[in-house]
Amino acid sequence: MRRATKMGMALGAAALVASIGGVFAVREVRQAGTGADAPLARVPGPHGTYTPVSAFQPRVPQGARVDHFTLTAEYRTLTLGGEPVRAMTFNGTAPGPLLVAHQGDVMEVTVQNRLSVPLTIHWHGIPVPGAEDGVPGVTQNPIPPGGSYTYEFVATEAGTYWYHSHEASFEEVGLGLYGAIVILPKHALYPAQRDYTLVLHEWPNASTAKAMMANLASGARDAGSNGGTMSEGMMNGAGTMGGMGMMGSAAQNSEGAWGSMQHVLPGPPLRTGTFAPTTDDYAALDEMAGMYGAFTVNQNADGTTLLPAKPGQLVRLRIVNSGNMTRLLTLVGAPFRVVALDGHDIANPGWLKGVLLPIGAAERYDVEFRVPPSGAAYLISADPDATARQELRAAIGDPGAWASFPGISAAAIAREPWFDFTDYGRGRLPGETVFRLNQAYQVRYNMKLTVGMSMNGMVYAINGRVFPNIPPIVVHKGDAVLVHIVNDSPYIHPMHLHGHDFQVLTRDGRPVQGSPIFLDTLNVFPGESYDIAFRADNPGLWMFHCHDLEHAASGMDVMVQYAGVTDPYPMNEMSE
Ligand code: C2O
Ligand code: CU
Repeated sequence: MRRATKMGMALGAAALVASIGGVFAVREVRQAGTGADAPLARVPGPHGTYTPVSAFQPRVPQGARVDHFTLTAEYRTLTLGGEPVRAMTFNGTAPGPLLVAHQGDVMEVTVQNRLSVPLTIHWHGIPVPGAEDGVPGVTQNPIPPGGSYTYEFVATEAGTYWYHSHEASFEEVGLGLYGAIVILPKHALYPAQRDYTLVLHEWPNASTAKAMMANLASGARDAGSNGGTMSEGMMNGAGTMGGMGMMGSAAQNSEGAWGSMQHVLPGPPLRTGTFAPTTDDYAALDEMAGMYGAFTVNQNADGTTLLPAKPGQLVRLRIVNSGNMTRLLTLVGAPFRVVALDGHDIANPGWLKGVLLPIGAAERYDVEFRVPPSGAAYLISADPDATARQELRAAIGDPGAWASFPGISAAAIAREPWFDFTDYGRGRLPGETVFRLNQAYQVRYNMKLTVGMSMNGMVYAINGRVFPNIPPIVVHKGDAVLVHIVNDSPYIHPMHLHGHDFQVLTRDGRPVQGSPIFLDTLNVFPGESYDIAFRADNPGLWMFHCHDLEHAASGMDVMVQYAGVTDPYPMNEMSE
């Protein structure tokens, strides 16, 4: 099971269900305070009004500086680890160009589509106004081949963010449509002398990539695909996803998707109290390893990334995970500290040594350290079982660093503890407002994450339902919202909320001990549970979904809908 592909997992699970001879009944969980409408409800706003999401436009301050960027989506053959890979790129590279702005600037990004398929861009982690979120069929029409579109928003929050296509994103992001964004603060809390951004990606192997391209060409959309993409092909016995073209015929936006979910796979026992990685966690890390080929740092798959810095210099590494897998990394050669998560500074972060960072899909870790007198520090993969991922390395220091690389014992690293953000840092940032578990919440939502089998393969469900057949989380502007998340499945679910950040209040029933932690993507391991809270302060229609993009394509999404906000775009254009 250790290196099992999803096919292996799915078939194994099916066999398990069969061998027990029973059916795990799917229980429907009714959502409090929502109607039966899915994925959006018809709930009036203040004074009975309705406002289309397109009305929520940026408010540009007088005299703000405007930064113009152009992103041209085009096909390119990249050479990754010596192999040619047919990719989708922004401006010819993957990641696309690093977009750098200063806090307070207006970012104006013009997108040109030179692909033969539509796309949109989502600004992951940035609280853009409702009209700018880049979700096709919800906040805009997809940008057609040959078309262009301009996004505009104010870079209000400093930090590390990223952008990616939100159209058939399992395919389009997987094949290269992503890049990083750095918004530099007005006043840096942790100023560094060197500032590097590293985007980590895993590339589909040749047969998977081919199937993904074919899937896109067939015009299939991800939304509500009812167990489509990988799982379907694999369950059809195609192994390398040859069956993917069939997904277009899967029931879309019908009760069929729900009705066809037949078994729920059992999750591990719910965790309580202590924090330490389990064998389930290690197994979950490798869930999909089999379908990937190259693992890259920026566009480099050869494992010898070199970032120049002088001994004694303070370096900030902004690590962005643009893939679907959780990456286990560590820095050797210097003590380090995690100064920001998902673009949010952490108050008084402690220095770490010999600690592994589990960086989930779509998460950002900003790590700071001083280049040692010996010449270099090394960012390396710490997954003891992932040979390919050992290539994921960067040296930060003098140009001869790789020649003097001491070599690291994978076995020694494997025993090191994992970074625990629920017990890290001290005190708060000045002026930071925080939630308490026992305060008033206007909206409470229980989110149970399960995986199950449908006729077409695996589905990934929220409260036993598969998107789009799931009622929205309806909020009113100003509400405090508490979400209780339980992962009752054997897989990792990196849950991402659009348009807001949320504070993590508890994990496995235990309150967060260190500094307040604000995230936009929460990597939920098997058996974990969390309470998170956010303020409904950004009206719109916002997705809340798993950022394992295959899971998102196969059901694990829900909308956060502000009362009175409507979707003026054709919902059947919707795609994750
Ligand atoms: Cu980074 Cu809805 O995505
Ligand atoms: Cu998931």
